[in-house]
Amino acid sequence: MSPATATLTRYKMFIGGEWLEAAGGKYFPSDNPFTGKPWAEIPRGGAEDATRAIEAAHKALTSGEWPKLTATRRGALLRKLGDLIADKSKDLAAIEVRDNGKLFAEMSAQTAYMAQWYYYYGGLADKIEGHVIPSDKPDTFNYTRYEPVGVVVGIIPWNSPLLLVAWKLAPALAAGNTVVLKPSEYTSASVLEFMKLIEQAGFPPGVVNVVTGFGAEVGTPLVEHPKVAKIAFTGSDATGQKIYAAAAKGLKRVSMELGGKSPNIVFDDAHLDNAIKGVISGIFAATGQTCIAGSRLLVQQSIHDEFVEKLVAFAKTAKMGDPMNMDTQVGPVTNPPQFEKILNYIDIAKGEGAKAVLGGARATRPECGNGWFVEPTIFTGVKNSMRIAQEEVFGPVLSVIPFKDEDEAIAIGNDVVFGLAAGVWTQNMRRAFTMAEKLQAGTVWVNTYRAVSYLSPFGGYKRSGIGRESGQEMIKEYLQTKSVWISTATEVPNPFIMR
Ligand code: NAI
Ligand code: MG
Repeated sequence: MSPATATLTRYKMFIGGEWLEAAGGKYFPSDNPFTGKPWAEIPRGGAEDATRAIEAAHKALTSGEWPKLTATRRGALLRKLGDLIADKSKDLAAIEVRDNGKLFAEMSAQTAYMAQWYYYYGGLADKIEGHVIPSDKPDTFNYTRYEPVGVVVGIIPWNSPLLLVAWKLAPALAAGNTVVLKPSEYTSASVLEFMKLIEQAGFPPGVVNVVTGFGAEVGTPLVEHPKVAKIAFTGSDATGQKIYAAAAKGLKRVSMELGGKSPNIVFDDAHLDNAIKGVISGIFAATGQTCIAGSRLLVQQSIHDEFVEKLVAFAKTAKMGDPMNMDTQVGPVTNPPQFEKILNYIDIAKGEGAKAVLGGARATRPECGNGWFVEPTIFTGVKNSMRIAQEEVFGPVLSVIPFKDEDEAIAIGNDVVFGLAAGVWTQNMRRAFTMAEKLQAGTVWVNTYRAVSYLSPFGGYKRSGIGRESGQEMIKEYLQTKSVWISTATEVPNPFIMR
């Protein structure tokens, strides 16, 4: 793996099993959010590179070794990849941290856990079974086959690059597709390093490809290419809309995960110390840069003041600094535009009349050096109609909103365009089930937060997305169904009548 040296590490793209520069020969720097300085150079891909990668993926889909492999062999390749990931998980995590600034403590656990997606879908590969349909026509045999959709483009954001690759790549390959990945321009290095493991695992050339560069330059031509069957995207609402519109022109399949403004709801009957940890983990873990951030804290009025006081006291102890240190709890923000965006939302909240009871500014602590750090921030006096309660900040900024009773908690919780996740803190079982039913979110956590698994479907209600990732069912998003009719009749009946 590439060492952190004073000179920049120069990466290449991975297309058709070869390591290539961008056709235009250009590079762009990738920064380390803790030092605020560039550490790597990434090929600046464009339309020509996009076409090359799609052609390579299409060739691998339709000829050569891949389409001939049995599903069992595909599964074995995926499981081998899982083993290689488990082996290299710390190295991969270190690169992610250097590029996106998230905590090594979290990323190393995440990259190790990520192997499970390859094991799970590796196991599922040869359990994709069609059906025999009990035909209503005499002398006919009708059955279904599930076949790969074709070339899949995976567009990846910067917050958890390799995990979000796994969510797309593992099922796509298990289903027999070929894939072109486009990592974020802020965090391309780990996905490129990961291609070494794809090579080692022995996937045929062109089955997995990576092109790097900016959305408008290399992302758009990928999405628009006529040989692409499906786009799997995780990222912002705005980019999701653009990709959906472009996909519509080519009538391509899409799955999208577009973030949220998730309510974390604390009732007065909750175990308060646990609820505080759950709220902290929902908004300050990963510096709030997660799609599932519990960025709206809904607290029952009767405990509002006490809860906020305890929450602030706990959040104040958060240790900021070098994300590679195992005891750091809040790391830097990944990139300067995101850093500016968060600070801008803090200003917006103040302008709307919210009160910063903690933080509310960039962090200037000595341990933060020149990195892009924002103080963990808690706003009280927030109304659900304010922008700070409705728009995704993607940073360590919590809005506290009081509520009266269950009905009001549900009304406020659902009064937002997103629906990715929701948290509920209560010791009342009836209330737990009722809330789980009434909240409009793809995931509801009761007395826990941020649990995700390869076993469990993940995705959004409303504007948080289309489709699901993880779990058994979602493999169908990477498959198409063929219905096959075979006649055993000795004679073809009247050809002028459809039966
Ligand atoms: P973005 O949605 O613009 O970028 C995500 C990916 O899409 C990147 O790989 C980017 O290069 C690519 N892309 C951008 N425009 C494209 C286009 N026209 N065609 C094809 N690909 C394109 O997200 P960005 O700018 O990195 O972050 C902006 C905001 O997105 C954040 O502030 C946050 O609110 C949200 N976000 C949400 C994430 C989630 O997990 N749902 C993850 C990261 C960011
Ligand atoms: Mg970077």
